Amino acid sequence: MSKLTELQELKEKMRLGGGQNLIDVQHKKGKLTARERLNLLFDKDSFVETDSFMIHRCTNFGMEKQHYAGDGVVTGYGTVNGRLVCAYAQDFTILGGSLGEVHARKIANIQEKALQCGAPIVGMNDSGGARIQEGVNALSGYGRIFFNNTQSSGVIPQISVIMGPCAGGAVYSPAITDYIFMVEGTSQMFITGPAVIRTVTGEEVTSEALGGASSHSTRSGVAHFADKSDEEAIAHVRELLSYIPSNNTENPPYQETGDDVNRLIPEISGIVPDSMNRAYDMYDVIRTIADDGKLFDVAGDFAKNIVTCYIRIGGHTVGVVANQPKYFAGCLDIDGSDKAARFVRLCDAFNVPILVLEDVPGFLPGTQQEHGGIIRHGAKLLYAFCEATVPKVTVILRKAYGGAYIGMSCKETGADFVYAWPGAEIAVMGAEGAANIVFAQEIKEAQDPDALRKEKIDEYNERFSNPYRAAEMGYVDDVIDPATTRQRVASAFDMLMSKRESRPYKKHGNIPL
Ligand code: HXC
Repeated sequence: MSKLTELQELKEKMRLGGGQNLIDVQHKKGKLTARERLNLLFDKDSFVETDSFMIHRCTNFGMEKQHYAGDGVVTGYGTVNGRLVCAYAQDFTILGGSLGEVHARKIANIQEKALQCGAPIVGMNDSGGARIQEGVNALSGYGRIFFNNTQSSGVIPQISVIMGPCAGGAVYSPAITDYIFMVEGTSQMFITGPAVIRTVTGEEVTSEALGGASSHSTRSGVAHFADKSDEEAIAHVRELLSYIPSNNTENPPYQETGDDVNRLIPEISGIVPDSMNRAYDMYDVIRTIADDGKLFDVAGDFAKNIVTCYIRIGGHTVGVVANQPKYFAGCLDIDGSDKAARFVRLCDAFNVPILVLEDVPGFLPGTQQEHGGIIRHGAKLLYAFCEATVPKVTVILRKAYGGAYIGMSCKETGADFVYAWPGAEIAVMGAEGAANIVFAQEIKEAQDPDALRKEKIDEYNERFSNPYRAAEMGYVDDVIDPATTRQRVASAFDMLMSKRESRPYKKHGNIPL
């Protein structure tokens, strides 16, 4: 056999992973193989595999007879929309995609290359977890991967796609990364599976209910995206990459949209009701402001009372944090604070300017919130905004009450520009609540309590329930016609494009976790 034929045969064998039978099993489960996934992620013919011949060195439990080139993970680099991206995909057809010393070494190698080259890394997880036969060597491998995840955090975007089982400590690599995609029906993440839970607590639960895409994207908040298939998840990852820069020294990619930044948007007034108590859909407001009405939602199914998404304005990526009056009247709560705080830090780490669309009646009241630590969680959001040095623009659409007014990025916590619509109310609380507290005694003793209550409400409204007092004090830069919102926001971000703001030297802050 010629040397070249030998090479071709080795490569062909490598391409088949654990063999055609197991590829068929993988397909029957509705899953693609590692190589099929990578081919979909990368631009056509751009993927270059690394460390493809590496095999494990384990001799325990007959492992010396089970060698597969690549050791159950395909690693490499290529381009996505023309930009360099690194990736790895675990191959379930080889020893269940389990992670041993060499498998881990390969992942660590591509992580380190991504960090050195300033390229995003995408990890596709489909694995039985720590390779049982390799014992502590497998655990050590995870440790190294977690360490690399942490070193890369805030330097390069790290994206995890869960496309099969991801159990035990293995979940912690994705958990440290910036974004987690899951595929509905075929992926699960949990620390302990249903069998262990049954033994320890007696609770009966299916692996899908415990750690499927729906559980994690709606309830735990572990996953940011739930997609219907491998194909859909990968297309979703490619779209995400179009919004974010390759690393923390670059700006997000500019994408010409042709949408005029001076376009007036009078229709926006029809979306937001004048009445303070009527709900509306904040997504409609965001679409009206965005180029071409397009947004990329992040964690859209979790903590729906707050929206975090990317849009483009004048072709530039902007991260939007907005209250959603459709859920809990847009109140801030534990999950909403966590979601927004993490997104603000993500934007700040990767030079994405932040637009805050504010309509918030306050923090959600109740023992559940207090005992759950709303003080600690709300503090994260305050901390995140105060810490962020990217351009920050706030638009107050309607309500901006109490601590939540500060929590949603005001001038004092570092907003560069704050604009308010004419109907905005900026106050410690709503007029009715305020009048009932401040004038309780007088109202109680009045001959006509209802008339006095109304009078005091009107007085409070006159004084505080408008944006003009705040504008007089300089807390609001301008009161704007809603139709000019897109224009004014675009102009503010354009002006702030060269903004540089430094902070005192520190090793790192101590965000309330
Ligand atoms: C070695 C493994 C493996 C593992 C699966 N395989 N998991 N080999 N170590 N962890 C092998 C199986 O023996 C089998 O080999 C092949 O992969 C396919 O597995 P199946 O069980 O046939 O597939 P399926 O029915 O789809 O079930 C998949 C599974 C199950 C749910 C993942 O295999 C499973 O429960 N595995 C163990 C999961 C686990 O407990 N992992 C440790 C988690 S703790 P053959 O030769 O028969 O084809 C952990 C600690 C990390 O990961 C700590 C980090 C700090």
